[in-house]
Amino acid sequence: MPEPLTIALAKGRILDETLPLLARAGIEPADDLASSRRLVIATNRDDVRLVLIRSADVPTYVQYGAADLGVAGKDVLAEHGGNGLYERVDLKIAPCRMMTAGIDGRPLPRHRLRVATKYPRITERFFHRQGRQVELIKLYGSMELAPMVGLADLIVDLVDTGNTLKANGLAPLEHIMDVSTRLIINRAAQKMKHRAITALVERVEAAVAG
Ligand code: ATP
Ligand code: PRP
Repeated sequence: MPEPLTIALAKGRILDETLPLLARAGIEPADDLASSRRLVIATNRDDVRLVLIRSADVPTYVQYGAADLGVAGKDVLAEHGGNGLYERVDLKIAPCRMMTAGIDGRPLPRHRLRVATKYPRITERFFHRQGRQVELIKLYGSMELAPMVGLADLIVDLVDTGNTLKANGLAPLEHIMDVSTRLIINRAAQKMKHRAITALVERVEAAVAG
């Protein structure tokens, strides 16, 4: 029996939508993920197992081949940079936008802007391309708080309904990228396990289309 394919799944909001999609592709976890404390989960198929990790770690596991495939948001992939992996299928899960945002109605100050974000690489690239110098402040969540308490002039964060911005007196300003969830594949595994991965990708593509 060859090694099973390992798929890295992100805990958190995209897991709820990923599981029904995988089920339609014929893959169902053997444990109840909501209650299980296991991080490696067998499935109904001998040739597929799941690992459950933090969203931002998914590209790293796939880059180094610790997982053959992974499911992660485009935001996380763009921040990672994509070394060692292919972005293969847009799963159309959790669509949203990455935007800059600032205090509603307040003109931006003339001094070098301070920008708070969980996405320093994307942010740096975005402002660099526009020839704007900014000071980056790395945060791990609740970015919307930063302008209100004077930590930053702008934030770069995800926006879906816009409710979180609004509730914190912020307004969206510039669109940086559209975000949705992607299936990614380790480059070496794509070659070495070509048949198994192609069959799985085709089932996932059919599940997305269906
Ligand atoms: P962690 O808890 O590990 O820090 P996280 O808070 O970034 O991770 P989630 O909030 O579960 O994790 O988000 C995971 C992914 O869901 C993001 O990478 C993004 O692609 C997508 N996402 C996040 N916020 C939204 C949103 N408001 N609407 C739609 N999709 C979103
Ligand atoms: C995400 C994102 C925004 C919010 C946007 O946060 O970071 O804060 O959703 O969604 P909205 O436009 O529909 O309000 P999340 O709920 O994942 O919390 P987190 O920042 O703690 O990860």
